[in-house]
Amino acid sequence: MPRSSSSRRSLARGVAALLISWLVLVGGLVSSAIAQPRPLDVPYVPTPEHIVEAMLKLAKPGKDDFLVDLGCGDGRIPIMAAQKYGVRGFGVDMNPVRIKEARANAEKAGVSDKVQFIEGDLFKTDFQKASVLTLYLLPQVNMALRPSILDMKPGTRIVSHAFHMEDWKADATEQFDFRTIYHWVVPAKVAGRWVGTVAGAKVELDLVQKFQELTGTATIDGKSASVTAGKVMGDAIEVALVQAGTAGLKMAAVLKGAALEGDGVRLAKQ
Ligand SMILES: C[S@@+](CC[C@H](N)C(=O)[O-])C[C@H]1O[C@@H](n2cnc3c(N)ncnc32)[C@H](O)[C@@H]1O
Repeated sequence: MPRSSSSRRSLARGVAALLISWLVLVGGLVSSAIAQPRPLDVPYVPTPEHIVEAMLKLAKPGKDDFLVDLGCGDGRIPIMAAQKYGVRGFGVDMNPVRIKEARANAEKAGVSDKVQFIEGDLFKTDFQKASVLTLYLLPQVNMALRPSILDMKPGTRIVSHAFHMEDWKADATEQFDFRTIYHWVVPAKVAGRWVGTVAGAKVELDLVQKFQELTGTATIDGKSASVTAGKVMGDAIEVALVQAGTAGLKMAAVLKGAALEGDGVRLAKQ
């Protein structure tokens, strides 16, 4: 039986009402998903001023350094670095309230020309420009950042308040009021085979690197030796080549491109 025009109209109205409520529901869900910021990875706990002072002393910033504080809070680390050491830099924080405070504090301290504060996610921030990187985060956040930190320019200094980086042992630590400050220097990547001369002897060196520690094997004038007490500090390396029945060799060199060069040392990467 054909439907009357009034029942067709009420069916159309019903369908339209259903469609509108579906659109309102989906629209609401989408906009609330967009409006929801990602939760912070670390709560805000400011580093006490005297600990900031100690962190900066350990990093020894100079005028040519560039300091980045990941999760900068009220900006106290970059601000003190600019005030005391004339260092330029930036801080990044995901919380807009912190960024507002940091900018106001930089203005008050008269260092707005030296430091910038960026609202953003530290995991999406390019910090490779830093020659000094400061952290007061959490162990799992340090560990998530570790691969990017190890890819920074050799010699970059990292200072972390309270939290370490597991088997990448700190080069130095300091204790203040039951708080630990960790200091690392990003090591150059020197693992592999090096061939050349050390103190007039023909040397073949196979270096195994674990962060700043070096071990491995070598030959000195064709006779086997082992590598001990090896370390990398930025671009500089030191190793002792130990050989049974001889005094062995000690060498210190600096990585220059694909060469290790030092006093009496000239080795090329194979
Ligand atoms: C423990 S506070 C350290 C503040 C400051 N660096 C200091 O030492 O005084 C950690 C800061 O990281 C920020 N934060 C947490 N997760 C973040 C993220 N994913 N990206 C950027 N900042 C974040 C927090 O808002 C907080 O201000």
